[in-house]
Amino acid sequence: MTPYYDHAGITIYHGDCREILPSLAEVEMLLTDPVWPNCATILQGADRAGELFHEMWSWLNKPKRAAIQIGCDTDPRFLSCVTLPFFRVCWLELARPHYKGRLMYGSDVAYLYGEPPPSRPGNHVISGRFIDSDSSGKQADHPCPRKIGHVQWLISKWSAETDAILDPFMGSGTTLRAAKDIGRKAIGIEIEERYCEIAAKRMAQEVLPLSDVD
Ligand SMILES: C[S@@+](CC[C@H](N)C(=O)[O-])C[C@H]1O[C@@H](n2cnc3c(N)ncnc32)[C@H](O)[C@@H]1O
Repeated sequence: MTPYYDHAGITIYHGDCREILPSLAEVEMLLTDPVWPNCATILQGADRAGELFHEMWSWLNKPKRAAIQIGCDTDPRFLSCVTLPFFRVCWLELARPHYKGRLMYGSDVAYLYGEPPPSRPGNHVISGRFIDSDSSGKQADHPCPRKIGHVQWLISKWSAETDAILDPFMGSGTTLRAAKDIGRKAIGIEIEERYCEIAAKRMAQEVLPLSDVD
């Protein structure tokens, strides 16, 4: 299978993750923001998001750990197929909350599963709250991109330095960009070619590598 992009430890595949996952080698960590049930945004797979997530999970090659990122207004019960032990929930707070009808949207959440990464200085205790300081509202060109600061923090807290990270619902490549910034290898899969193109462009932008995020 030919990657859409492959450079410096970052690989992007264009296609359906359920078709691509069976041919991938093992990765240590899954980090994804899947299509969610009751998704009002126009995303492929939104009509049967729960089934899509279950099918994706059934093709995974036994990661050691997983971080699954969803909105604070997403019903998490579609994650019941995750077979790794549950570790904790994390609150990924926004610098600027907003309203959705009666709901104050102040954070995304992430569910951590599996084996904690080895303890290292500054990362023995896995805390559960991070506030993104970017209040600019600047977004990648995707209907629902996650905050890069949140994803960088998740990677630093929940991966080992040697882990390769997989995002089977890559979108505009926020996970891959964050992995690259922190010095982790990563693989992304995305069904829409236009988002693969955006992600590949984001990989080409050079920034100074970050160390782990506290
Ligand atoms: C919630 S979005 C991820 C957004 C991403 N976190 C970002 O920051 O841009 C989920 C993505 O999964 C993609 N998708 C839907 N079905 C898919 C499938 N079967 N295989 C791979 N990608 C899929 C959608 O096109 C969408 O871009």
